[in-house]
Amino acid sequence: LDNGLALTPPMGWLTWQRFRCITDCEKYPNECISETLIKRTADRMVDEGFLEAGYNYVGIDDCWLEKERDAQGHLVPDRKRFPNGMKAIADYLHDRGFKFALYQDYGTKTCMGYPGVLGHEARDIQSFVNWDVDYIKLDGCYVDKAKMDEGYPYFGKLLNDSGRPIVYSCSWPAYQDNPNYASIAKHCNLWRNWDDIQDSWSSLSTIMTWFGDHQDEFTKYAGPGRWNDPDMLLIGNFGLSLDQAKVQMAVWSILAAPLLMSVDLDTIRPEFKEVLLNRDIIDIDQDSFGRQGSRVWNKSKCEIWRRKLSDGSYALAFVNRRDDGAPYSIKVSFDSMKIPNQAYEVIDLYKEEEERSFGPEGEFETRVNPSGVKFYKFIPKKSNEINRTT
Ligand code: GLA
Ligand code: GLA
Repeated sequence: LDNGLALTPPMGWLTWQRFRCITDCEKYPNECISETLIKRTADRMVDEGFLEAGYNYVGIDDCWLEKERDAQGHLVPDRKRFPNGMKAIADYLHDRGFKFALYQDYGTKTCMGYPGVLGHEARDIQSFVNWDVDYIKLDGCYVDKAKMDEGYPYFGKLLNDSGRPIVYSCSWPAYQDNPNYASIAKHCNLWRNWDDIQDSWSSLSTIMTWFGDHQDEFTKYAGPGRWNDPDMLLIGNFGLSLDQAKVQMAVWSILAAPLLMSVDLDTIRPEFKEVLLNRDIIDIDQDSFGRQGSRVWNKSKCEIWRRKLSDGSYALAFVNRRDDGAPYSIKVSFDSMKIPNQAYEVIDLYKEEEERSFGPEGEFETRVNPSGVKFYKFIPKKSNEINRTT
């Protein structure tokens, strides 16, 4: 969507993946979807360097509403959990340099059963504007999916007409069998292509397989202002090992995916925080070229994911999906990596290996842990450097 927003993939934090629809603040005071959760998360994001690293959206996913609209038909944020309303949340976030993301649903109800926007579109957008919302995730439960091809553009037009710059995140293709990506990219800043991610390696694996197998259908539509969204980052929660967390961060950056974490920042372990804050990998995700990478090689349960970057270098993720034990050796030609035959300086983005030189001939070899990744930047050497080193 050409609205001047999301020129690089949005980064931030959303409630859903970790906090789901926890609404009982008496039983779960630290986890319920509430003003308290948002404020403490924003504070953490400032203190721990997340904001500075680029994670600048803070968002409330489903389960923020009262079950009924008010007598005038307006949406009402849950009165207990958001006692000061949504404008107070926006102010708190804006004062600290964040932008405010909020979830709604195009249907009659949200996926968790709260009131949706259908039939109330203009009124609800007015509420979002009054509350200074900067980003709307519009889900697609409880609506005829055939209606989406007109409904999502219609809602987008109203958003645009509101005059407030609002990032538009659509779940439209996730509900359809043959999405019209040309239209989706024209009307949305980002869009969820497929199924919900869950807190496990098997869910993450399934999503990676699906994105690899279907990449030709949507990769070309990504670019500044329009991004494919493989869903939130699981990093720092219960289901992924450290190696698996590194896989998600690497592959998401190759896919130019939104980096939307969803984790308890009071309890996250430092090694997972380090993965989320890896500046070199964030830079790859946010590369100004905005060209989405893809899976270029796939054999013996190992994969290579590759992305071309604006400075002429390549990001290459070697993913091992095997579970047989020892680190697995992958040895491949230039052809398999789909990069030009030349000399490269090779940098390990997780800093597990020393920098090395590779090319202009030979095969590249690396050892990858089970359900792990080696993630490199291949920087072409200038000819004078080649003379020096050969
Ligand atoms: C759908 C979406 C999820 C989340 C939930 C909330 O399942 O795909 O990302 O927003 O709804 O109910
Ligand atoms: C190929 C196969 C898929 C899946 C992936 C795994 O694309 O067609 O079924 O096994 O490899 O990367």
